[in-house]
Amino acid sequence: MGQIVFIPRELDPNEPRVAASPETVKRLAALGFDVIVEKGAGLRSRIPDQDFATAGGAIGNAADAKKADVVLKVRRPTDAELKGYKSGAAVIAIMDPYGNDAAVAALAKAGVTAFSMEFMPRITRAQSMDVLSSQANLAGYQAVIDAAAEYDRALPMMMTAAGTVPAAKTFIMGVGVAGLQAIATARRLGAIVTATDVRPAVKEQVQSLGAKFLAVEDEEFKAAETAGGYAKEMSKEYQAKQAALTAEHIAKQDIVITTALIPGRPAPKLVSAAMVASMKPGSVIVDLAVERGGNVEGAVPGKVVTTENGVKIVGHLNVPGRVAASASLLYAKNLYAFLETMVDKAARELAIKRDDDLVKATMLTDGGKVVHPNFAKAAEEPRTEPAAIPASTMVADASGKKPAPKKKAAAKSPSTKPEGTA
Ligand code: NAI
Repeated sequence: MGQIVFIPRELDPNEPRVAASPETVKRLAALGFDVIVEKGAGLRSRIPDQDFATAGGAIGNAADAKKADVVLKVRRPTDAELKGYKSGAAVIAIMDPYGNDAAVAALAKAGVTAFSMEFMPRITRAQSMDVLSSQANLAGYQAVIDAAAEYDRALPMMMTAAGTVPAAKTFIMGVGVAGLQAIATARRLGAIVTATDVRPAVKEQVQSLGAKFLAVEDEEFKAAETAGGYAKEMSKEYQAKQAALTAEHIAKQDIVITTALIPGRPAPKLVSAAMVASMKPGSVIVDLAVERGGNVEGAVPGKVVTTENGVKIVGHLNVPGRVAASASLLYAKNLYAFLETMVDKAARELAIKRDDDLVKATMLTDGGKVVHPNFAKAAEEPRTEPAAIPASTMVADASGKKPAPKKKAAAKSPSTKPEGTA
């Protein structure tokens, strides 16, 4: 009998994704694992148990977790779930450890070797394991679909015998992975698209997608990108200049989609209540950063609010989960790609290489201890200041590797390179 990989049903009602697909189950079995999928685990991602079974998985129940050598999950396991895991099991998920020290300590106490997928370094070798990209790409797409659904006019220009419908003016704020896909999606729907970001590298990408770039291009802007390719927190002065430039623009927009994030910091506030009030009735704002503090004043996590002047502010949670059937396939593939690097192919069993860069960057707990450098200290002594920068940034910086050139091409046409296309 081989080692056991278990894929539970996610317990969080807001989490429809699942950490395996029939394809990854088949590939895990080919690596030599016995795969057990909890009954109903894939249902909310449109994967019936039968499809997992056909792929070579056994359909089990939650209690099978205790047999598992590897648990693949979407969300960090709850304390109750952890009680059901065997000490020494590898648990791979989006662990969301920042500000959750007690939960990290619980993982250590349970004796599991926990991996945080969102800390995967953004280096070429790990592109197929980049859950931030695979999920943000879909979130950017879904943000436009959600905006179009709330918007009670057409997006493309339509010239008909009965008159002309003007194209919707759409403004994308923050052009990382999600923003690029939002631009591409809005363009496909025929909107007139403009976009802004604080990273100069983005300008060319925006233009190559057929959108217009708008930003305060001063000295601070020219230096606003870290070696890892992420945004820095901008000065108060810059933010004021940025607000002045965008205020006038936002007043003329039909749809605004915000995706701006800074690793390890609250999301920057980009759209003030006054800017929202300046928009026409029926305009729609989608705040993709709502879970991280929000880019838009008045955005409410999990709600669509309509302001007094008739502007809708969309604050859906877990936006990749709104396209769960697609998101799960890509996420499952990300997990498989990572797990495969930790398998001894000859012995057909798990062999975690603790000196591997990917393992070092993502391993949170091991052997009963919190081992990740960003959290190990907090686990030993009372916290004095919040850990600010996620490991993914630090690793990318330390390796000196700029985001891979391949990725630039991907950025140029997200339509032709959906991450992890199955
Ligand atoms: P993110 O999710 O951290 O942030 C989204 C966007 O918000 C970023 O483009 C950021 O510059 C922007 N932003 C921050 N503050 C802003 C402000 N005040 N106003 C306007 N925009 C603001 O970013 P994401 O999607 O994770 O991408 C970050 C970088 O990582 C990019 O350079 C991307 O090309 C790179 N990347 C590298 C990969 C690899 O090497 N494998 C894979 C995916 C992304």
